Amino acid sequence: MGNMETLQQSNFKNGAYPFYEKLRKDRPIFPMNSDGKNHSWMITKYEHVKELLKSPSFIKDQSKLFASSSQDAEQNEFNIFQNMMLDVDPPDHSRLRKLVQPYFNPKTIKQLEPRIREIADDLLNQMKQKETTVDLIDDYAFPLPIIVISEMLGVPAEDRDKFRKWSNTIVSASNEMDPDFMGDVEAFTTYLTELFERRKYEPQDDLVSHLIQTEEDGEQLTRNELYSMIVLLIIAGHETTVNLIGNTLYALFEHPDQLEKVKADPTLISGAIEEGLRYYSPVDFSTARWADENIDFHGQSIRRGDFIVASLSSANRDEEKFEHASQFDVTRERNAHVAFGFGIHFCLGAPLARLEGKIALEKLLTTFPDIDLNRDVTQPEWRSVFLLRGLDSLPVSL
Ligand code: HEM
Repeated sequence: MGNMETLQQSNFKNGAYPFYEKLRKDRPIFPMNSDGKNHSWMITKYEHVKELLKSPSFIKDQSKLFASSSQDAEQNEFNIFQNMMLDVDPPDHSRLRKLVQPYFNPKTIKQLEPRIREIADDLLNQMKQKETTVDLIDDYAFPLPIIVISEMLGVPAEDRDKFRKWSNTIVSASNEMDPDFMGDVEAFTTYLTELFERRKYEPQDDLVSHLIQTEEDGEQLTRNELYSMIVLLIIAGHETTVNLIGNTLYALFEHPDQLEKVKADPTLISGAIEEGLRYYSPVDFSTARWADENIDFHGQSIRRGDFIVASLSSANRDEEKFEHASQFDVTRERNAHVAFGFGIHFCLGAPLARLEGKIALEKLLTTFPDIDLNRDVTQPEWRSVFLLRGLDSLPVSL
């Protein structure tokens, strides 16, 4: 079995953590694959991960490294993933990020607090009406961030089931030629095209309308970049915060003493969210870079064109950085985890995700103080999505 397959199988479960620990000790710069010329590596130590993410020698845009006429042709074709700020380097990255940064800074996000509280209350009221088992993922952790990001963007929240499917297909896709993948990407694109048309002629006070205006004005944003930006924000809004809420609650249920502490002292909720981010990091394998030059990286010779994946989950459990790293401790001090990445691509949505997480936990624990895992139902299962860590379902008794 290849190194990559072993990795994929162990990443889905808690089994990943002992595996990472072994790698940090024995092989912190781990060769995953090679095509004879270039290698793919995985790095697992906290300091190495930070260094990779802040170094300008490691870049996002591979087309710069392997320019060929076929790639040039691809660049000109319409592709909703091609121009995401997440996947480009300065100066394009700085230009794109600057356009949306004001909408996501902590001060602007703070203004959303009353509305996020309202959404959480609505969802909790709906949960109260339920007679059957409540699933915290489907009934709470998933809808909350979706409704928030949909409202920010100006995407009708009723369409959220469609987005969930498209978004899921995209992050789970193992093969971009898969007909389901292609069909969903096409449907997503058509949907956005229609939405852009509507907002162009009837602008609202939402992010889609603002970005269309920017695109119309020329200079700052191309049409392709507009699609990529919205797709990125929808996917980021769908696939990450649900896991932050679900994973943190799961960790609390697994550690009843910590749950009791948080219930007794709600000022610990922010600490619990940070610890949830560190302990069960929602984004793991999607943080990667390409080497832009031949470089010696902690004794390992990396060649220009090599691909390096940073395991954020592993970095966040590194004993050299975090005392008792494998313990879940809501009172942990100096919790400088890298769950939101590091450097110029540091998560744009971090203030939003933190606020949503805090409100979600606070509201849930005050509304249902006796909440616990429903241990009669099957154990919660991790989703088998390689790039992310999150639960398929989290059945609870209220
Ligand atoms: C970037 C994690 C929520 C939007 C990132 C990166 C990480 C991350 C690790 C850096 C990737 C890299 O360096 O390659 C998370 C986690 C979240 C979360 C753990 C929730 C708990 C969100 C939300 C949004 C968002 C709610 C927006 C709605 C973005 C964007 C970027 C990004 C736009 C790209 C930033 C750039 O390239 O400059 N996120 N994210 N994220 N995230 Fe998040």
